[in-house]
Amino acid sequence: MTKLWGGRFTKPADKTAEGFTSSLAFDRRLYKQDIRGSIAHARMLGKQGIISAEDAALIEQGLREIEAEIDAGQFPFRQEYEDIHLNIEKRLIEKIGPVGGRLHTARSRNDQVVTDVHLWVKEEIAAVQRLVSDLQGTLLDRAREQLGVIMPGYTHLQRAQPVLLSHHLMAYFWMLERDYGRFADALRRADISPLGAGAMAGTTFPIDREFTAAELGFAGVYPNSMDAVSDRDFIVEFVAAAAICQMHLSRLAEELVNWSSTEFGFVEMDDAYATGSSIMPQKKNPDVAEIVRGKTGRIYGDLMALLTVLKGLPLTYHSDLQEDKERLFDAVDTLKACLTVMTGMLATVKFNRERMAQAVRQDFSNATDMADYLAKKGMPFREAHEVVGRAVLYCIERGKYLADCTLEEFKGFSELFEADIYEAIAPETCVNLRTSQGGTAPAEVEKQLALAAEILSRRVG
Ligand code: ARG
Repeated sequence: MTKLWGGRFTKPADKTAEGFTSSLAFDRRLYKQDIRGSIAHARMLGKQGIISAEDAALIEQGLREIEAEIDAGQFPFRQEYEDIHLNIEKRLIEKIGPVGGRLHTARSRNDQVVTDVHLWVKEEIAAVQRLVSDLQGTLLDRAREQLGVIMPGYTHLQRAQPVLLSHHLMAYFWMLERDYGRFADALRRADISPLGAGAMAGTTFPIDREFTAAELGFAGVYPNSMDAVSDRDFIVEFVAAAAICQMHLSRLAEELVNWSSTEFGFVEMDDAYATGSSIMPQKKNPDVAEIVRGKTGRIYGDLMALLTVLKGLPLTYHSDLQEDKERLFDAVDTLKACLTVMTGMLATVKFNRERMAQAVRQDFSNATDMADYLAKKGMPFREAHEVVGRAVLYCIERGKYLADCTLEEFKGFSELFEADIYEAIAPETCVNLRTSQGGTAPAEVEKQLALAAEILSRRVG
């Protein structure tokens, strides 16, 4: 059981220390990227005449067999070989003999591991972007389908002004659109090859970094070998973008939890996305939304852990950097699961239009419109605000709403009120008249829907 680096050692590793330093349990997830990177490197060594073309071909063949072994669950993983890189290299030598030992010429695990992670991150960013687009598509579908449904809009969790449910839903579409853009940015900076940086100073062999970068589909190479092996910014950026995206999911989850309470009653979760109580037979709990909200803590934690691992770490590679992977994997797995489940939950949630319509009739969310009515008739808005404030108080004291007042009562608040006040403070009017750009009027919301559809169609097309 000799270690690949065993030459300068005189006694075996302490078992506890060996288990402690091993990353195999989690970095075996990178085997496909590791093999891709190694094949590109072997081809480059062959092309440059650093090893013979026959040896390069043998190595490539061996690596492909190893990939098939791992795919089939037949690979003999050994913790004592520390990590996925050494496990694969050791197996290669076992399979094709000493020629396998030529693969690591002009390479270090330091540039190897971070190349693997770059490749993994690039694939996963694309996968996350697809899931973000799916959720955006679902939001758009539901917003289209619910066009015309009016609900109270809130500030301070107090009913503020009536809005279209579609307008509310589309707010999340735009948050996710920014997330998509942040992932695209992160992808651009992850798309750079560290391979060929060696341990950190470069190599004495006549390698061709542009070749391996092109083989692996990278847009460029790191200009500085020390930066190349030490950089984990691309992971931090991805996880930071994931944390922001998850924060959006958490806000949406919170709305769904609130809205599915008896107090709001605005939505009912599909049975497939809710659970019952083990003691209270009447319960239908919005667990899925709650767990999405709760998982947010994990991704924030992952981001903080990564930033903390990197804080104060001098150049270049240190084993601290091995701590990047579990946090990265956890953040990505969590975000993907949350995006997937949110899409399913939103696609099936039932909106209770009647309850929303009723809510908007039994509140004072038309008070701004009543003040606007007076302002449009020439009263300074500040004065109109005062008049309507008094009217609201008058109604509260009598247990009624603004629309319940007689014209005589209205006239008592101001002579400017005419019979058209009822029309002016109807929830439909409140919504229909908010035609300012980006406002909740149906025409403006339809513009959003059209823009959103165009964005998504460009994306898949
Ligand atoms: N398992 C290591 C990691 O995940 C690979 C690089 C090890 N390099 C080293 N010099 N010990 O970062």
